[in-house]
Amino acid sequence: MGVRPVVRTADPDALARAADLLRAGRLVAFPTETVYGLGANALDAAAVDRLYVAKGRPVVNPVIVHVADAAAVSGVAASWPACAEKLARSFWPGPLTLVLPKSEAVPATVTAGGPTVAVRCPAHPVARALLREAGVPVAAPSANRSGQLSPTTAAHVVASLGDRVDFVLDGGPCPVGIESTVLDVTGERPRILRPGPITRPMIEAVVGPVDEGPQGVGPARSPGLLTKHYAPRTAVELADDRIEADTIRRALETAGFRVAVVTQPDRPDAAAAELYGVLHELDSGNYDRLVVVLPPDTAEWAAVRDRLVRAAAG
Ligand code: TXA
Ligand code: MG
Repeated sequence: MGVRPVVRTADPDALARAADLLRAGRLVAFPTETVYGLGANALDAAAVDRLYVAKGRPVVNPVIVHVADAAAVSGVAASWPACAEKLARSFWPGPLTLVLPKSEAVPATVTAGGPTVAVRCPAHPVARALLREAGVPVAAPSANRSGQLSPTTAAHVVASLGDRVDFVLDGGPCPVGIESTVLDVTGERPRILRPGPITRPMIEAVVGPVDEGPQGVGPARSPGLLTKHYAPRTAVELADDRIEADTIRRALETAGFRVAVVTQPDRPDAAAAELYGVLHELDSGNYDRLVVVLPPDTAEWAAVRDRLVRAAAG
């Protein structure tokens, strides 16, 4: 593939170039408010296949389709339930992904062969401009090799994917910092498949009670809920508070390990914004173990806790 340009989005030609590449079936990494996405034209099966190969992603794990606005959902979903309309009005553009019945236009590779498609309308101005300019729905998982930490800067993307990506749009650090909430609205009652920045109370304030967690069996139900996901290379141990963390740290240091203790800022949004950046940085430091102090077990902290528990499961 040769040299892959990383382009500051202040470059006036960058968006047009990126949009051309997407329409031509190439892979473009771009910033969203949550994490960087690795984009491919969602209606081009061969392009989406290249996406799976570039990430080393298991083909049983479906990808999220990004659209410029709610009107574009009709191009990828077969129906639009009333609750989806309400949620989109409240939270789009933004970090909420809705799982809907798929339209026939969407290739099976996007949905891992399943009958549903996950759709999100991102809020980041660069993502919005790119989607408008490309004029096609864009399939985009996080722009990292499968199983690694999600990227919140262009440098993270390049470090993980190298020349497996054709073009990287650099929009600076992602402001929200953790992946979107994934909500299945195909059942009788909406179900949170992946906790994220749009919390359960926020969703329930709009549509009433929702369920949470994986439903029934089936490995492809929401593979983002698999453990060993979002994991750093350095082993992670969890502590419920600072005192427990220090006890673990002393024991590990006595055993000769180099240890870093990770605490959370006071607010969940601040913790989310820095989470992956901190883990990336500590992961490239010379530590044998990261001891992470978990935040409280509340709805507001659910997404950050979820990512930390997964980081430790590796
Ligand atoms: O914030 C985000 O959602 C980021 C940015 C780039 O938009 N994307 C992201 O994509 O996190 P990815 O591929 O790393 O995670 C997609 C999640 C996975 O948990 C996947 O299983 C789930 O969405 N998913 C995708 N399609 C699905 C479907 N049809 N049914 C259920 N879950 C689905
Ligand atoms: Mg991911």
